[in-house]
Amino acid sequence: MSENKNVLICIGTRPEAIKMAPVYFEFLKSGYNTKLCVTAQHRDLLDQVLHFFKMTPDFDLDLMTPNQTLNKLSSRILEDIDKVFIEHKIDLVLVHGDTTTSSIIALAAFNRKIKVAHVEAGLRTYNKYSPFPEEMNRQLTGRLADFHFAPSETAKQNLKKEGVALNSILVTGNTVIDALKVTSGILDKGFNNTVIQNLKEKVNFNKKIILVTGHRRENFGEGFESICNALVEISKDENVELIFPVHLNPNVQEVVYNRLSNLPNVHLVAPLDYPTFIWIMKKAHLIISDSGGVQEEAPTFGVPVLVTRTVTERQEGVAAGCSFLVGTNQEKIVNKAKEILSHTKENNNNLNPYGDGNASKKIVDFFKNRTW
Ligand code: UD1
Ligand code: UDP
Repeated sequence: MSENKNVLICIGTRPEAIKMAPVYFEFLKSGYNTKLCVTAQHRDLLDQVLHFFKMTPDFDLDLMTPNQTLNKLSSRILEDIDKVFIEHKIDLVLVHGDTTTSSIIALAAFNRKIKVAHVEAGLRTYNKYSPFPEEMNRQLTGRLADFHFAPSETAKQNLKKEGVALNSILVTGNTVIDALKVTSGILDKGFNNTVIQNLKEKVNFNKKIILVTGHRRENFGEGFESICNALVEISKDENVELIFPVHLNPNVQEVVYNRLSNLPNVHLVAPLDYPTFIWIMKKAHLIISDSGGVQEEAPTFGVPVLVTRTVTERQEGVAAGCSFLVGTNQEKIVNKAKEILSHTKENNNNLNPYGDGNASKKIVDFFKNRTW
C-alpha cells in the first residue's frame, strides 16, 4: 500500500474531463492524497464538464488562447506543470489519451522522474498524421508511461508488440462507459434544462434525428467543406432533423456557420453540456462524427455512427457493426446515411464493446494491490 503518496490527475480538454471524472472520484475515495490539475487547454468546453461532475481543480493553469498553436500550447504546459510538480512533491501523475496536455505532461513528469500512468493507452492507427497530432501524442505518452490502462484487449496487444512489459498493462475497459453509466442514471430520473426546452421548440423530435459533431485537424479545409456539402444533401430529406453542436475551434466554426446556416432542419447550436448531449444521442437515429468519445458512447444506445475519418483507432465498433468509416467523401457519407435512415431504429441498451462501466475501480485497485 502506498496511501501516503501524492497523486496528480491531469486533464485539459472536454473528453479528458469526462473520461477522467470517474477515475478522479475513485482515487478520492481510495485514501490517496489526490489532487486535480487542469491545463485548461480547453476553457469553456472543460468548464462545462467540471461543472456537471462538480469537480474543483486544485490547480488551474488556465492556458487556452484563441486558435492556439500546438507548439505554443506545449511550451506553456511544460513550463507551468513543472511548478506544480516541484511545489507539491507529486509521486504519480495520471494522464489520459492523446491530447497535447497528456503527452506534454507525461514528458514533464518523466523529466522529473515522476511515475506516469496512462489511461486509455494502446489505441493505434500507426498513421503518424491521422489522427493528427493525436496518434503521435498517444504513442509518445505510451513510451513515457510506467503504467498502461488499456481499454481493450486489442490495445493491450498493441502495447505488447511495442515491447511494453505485460505486468505494467491492465485491460480495464474505457472509463467513458463509467461516466456514461452515471449520466444515464441521471437522465433516467427525468432530465430537463433550458437548452432542451429551446431545442424542443425548434426541433421536431418525431422526425429522424441526426446528431453531428466534427473537430479533427486532419479534416480542416477540404474535408470539412465536403462533410458540410454532404449534410446539405442529407437535409433535403424532409423527414430528418440535424442537430450540430459546433466545436469552438475557429477552424470549425467558420466553415460550418458559412455553409450550414439558414437551412430549416439543420440546427447549429453551441457545444452542449455533457448530459444534454447524451440526452440527444439517446434520441438519435444516426450520428455523423469524427469524435473518438462519441464512437465509444453510441453503441450503448444502439445508434450507428458514420465516422468521418479514413482510419480509426477504435476498430472494435467497426468490427461490431456499430460504426462505419466513411471518410470525408460527400457521396459516401450521403449514401451510407440514406441507407441507415431507410431502416427503422433498432433499440436499445446494446452491449458496448468499449467497456462495462467498472474501469475506474480497476485502475485504483491496480495501485492498491502493488507496491509502486
Ligand atoms: C483538442 C485535442 C483533441 C481532442 C479535442 C476534443 C490536441 C492536440 N487536440 O482539439 O485531441 O479530440 O480537443 O475536443 O490536444 N476553443 C475555445 N474554447 C474551448 C475549446 C477550444 O475557444 O473551450 C478554441 C480555441 O480557439 C482553441 C481552439 O479551439 O485555441 C483549439 O483548441 P485545441 O485544444 O488546441 O484543439 P482542439 O481542436 O479542440
Ligand atoms: N460532447 C459533449 N457535448 C457536445 C459534443 C460532445 O458533451 O456538444 C461529449 C461527448 O459525449 C464525448 C466527448 O464530448 O464524451 C467527445 O469529445 P470530442 O468529440 O470533443 O473529443 P474526442 O472524443 O474526439 O477526443
